[in-house]
Amino acid sequence: MMIPREVVEEVRRRTDIVELIGSYVTLKRAGSNFGGLCPFHSEKTPSFTVFPDSESFYCFGCGAGGDAITFVMKNENLDYPSAVEVLAARAGIQIVKEQEKSTGGLTRKRVHDMNKDAAKFFHQCLLAPIGAEGLKYLTEKRGLSMALIKHFGLGFAPGSFNMLTDYMHKKGYTDAELAQGFLCGISQKNGRAYDYFRNRVMFPIIDTAGNVIAFGGRVMDDSKPKYLNSSDTPAFQKRKNLFALNFAKNHSTDRLILCEGYMDVISLHAYGFENAVATLGTAITPEQARLMTKYTKQVIICYDADEAGQRAAVKAMEVLGQVGMDVRVLHVNDAKDPDEYLRKFGDARFRRLIEGSRTEFSYKSEKIFAKYSMDIPEERIKASEELCALIAATPSKVEREIYASMVADKLKISIDSLKNDIERTRSKKLRALKQKESKDAGLSAKGYGDRVNPDTARNVQAVAAEEAIIGLLMLYPEHRKMITSGTIALTEEDFFSALGKRAFARIMKMEQEEGGFSYSLLGEDFTPDEMGRLQSMLQKRRALAENGTAVLRASVTTLLEQKRKSDARESGDVVQSIQQLLDAKKKKQ
Ligand code: CTP
Ligand code: MN
Repeated sequence: MMIPREVVEEVRRRTDIVELIGSYVTLKRAGSNFGGLCPFHSEKTPSFTVFPDSESFYCFGCGAGGDAITFVMKNENLDYPSAVEVLAARAGIQIVKEQEKSTGGLTRKRVHDMNKDAAKFFHQCLLAPIGAEGLKYLTEKRGLSMALIKHFGLGFAPGSFNMLTDYMHKKGYTDAELAQGFLCGISQKNGRAYDYFRNRVMFPIIDTAGNVIAFGGRVMDDSKPKYLNSSDTPAFQKRKNLFALNFAKNHSTDRLILCEGYMDVISLHAYGFENAVATLGTAITPEQARLMTKYTKQVIICYDADEAGQRAAVKAMEVLGQVGMDVRVLHVNDAKDPDEYLRKFGDARFRRLIEGSRTEFSYKSEKIFAKYSMDIPEERIKASEELCALIAATPSKVEREIYASMVADKLKISIDSLKNDIERTRSKKLRALKQKESKDAGLSAKGYGDRVNPDTARNVQAVAAEEAIIGLLMLYPEHRKMITSGTIALTEEDFFSALGKRAFARIMKMEQEEGGFSYSLLGEDFTPDEMGRLQSMLQKRRALAENGTAVLRASVTTLLEQKRKSDARESGDVVQSIQQLLDAKKKKQ
């Protein structure tokens, strides 16, 4: 954690949440609370409530909720440490950032300092005679301007085996530190340090707080490997960061554009699309998806045109969909990637592509159309079957009708008969699901989808029980004690949903290892939407003050029972086949 917990608590103590929220929203007293129009969704009658006693807010309309920090995060589009900083400044508190716990002797701060020095070295090399080849590559071959090169802090790593290492020694860094920071390797033969990045153009990776956390280095020809990247360090985890998010976060109100390559992002920024980011040499992770939800509600996936890129796009669509993102896909034609597209066709045409970027449905349906010829009846039938199945899986009836009308013309089928087919497919599927599985699965098929906690669909009762438990644990220290003392046996593994597991683990870790639970500290690990959900768990449990313990016990029982049922159901096929094997064996004997 970057900001010590005492500071977070001091900030919270000194912030009057009514006054804070009152400066953005007109609040009226209602009993001991305050009500107003929700700033996070549009409404005509107030369902947004501020609770001075618990220093929290909750909107009964849209489920937004949290504490003062969550409010600032949501309202100002900030990450957790920045929101704490804003509130600290407001309350006149000076933040001294924690000297990070060291991992292998290397603090975060030390890695940041080291990388910053290295970034300066690489950048200076690029502008010096030794970097001529790198500069030529970036400006002539890739068409980057000097301003852009400076903006991104691009650099050049000379071909020498020791220029950076020597430079860093002079700055006081040891071989061990450089090796741990992935700036040098240690020779197996003579134990000496040598520069890790050589003869490459360098892309510094900068986090949203402005720290240089890693590097990517590209060769200037077709040799392999094309890129060399820093491995994970105490200051850097690939799966949790995005290239250029430090710039893009300030242009993310409408959407972010997600690309595959550093070069794509740099070109996009050069052509005015400063909301572009890229993953760091891996497929997109749930952590990165959640990170994006802090800044935007819509992501346009803009991957390479080749088959690998398109396959990765489908996968990214899923990962982003899981965190409730509005996902679009943009396909560049007649160019291998967005970088080439922009250089060939310019920003106006790219902007048109953005406007026409397709939703998941159009993307998938176009793939189906591309597979079949509409002039051959048999193929048309196949296409319509696949499209029916695709549309039938859409929970909302209105959406299904819109989709039906979108494809009917192309299929040369009347909308009405298409709609009939879709609804028939849908009820068949629902019936099959209901027969096969419990009513919970039926619920999910009906699309009671829950974007913040997608696992809800798999077992509504298990998640309800979980939410009761988590709400109670957050509210009552005595309930947390019952867990830590073992009076009630409950572990992370007993929870059903991923969100439930994460929340329980975080709450109990704070309780046991970090000096006690604090709602405010959750904001560091949970998105504002998740904070809202946690807040709702808490709000709903307030009324239970008297008999909370009985509810806790009952909820634990329900959770364990429901989880067992779901687990059994989900592994049903395996059990069944083992049973069949056993039966067959018996018969033989
Ligand atoms: N990548 C990597 N290691 C490789 C190849 C690729 O880490 N050997 C990562 C890099 O983050 C790269 C991204 O995957 O930016 C996309 O790869 P690619 O499209 O091949 O690279 P571009 O950055 O688009 O480079 P260019 O257009 O210069 O070929
Ligand atoms: Mn590329």
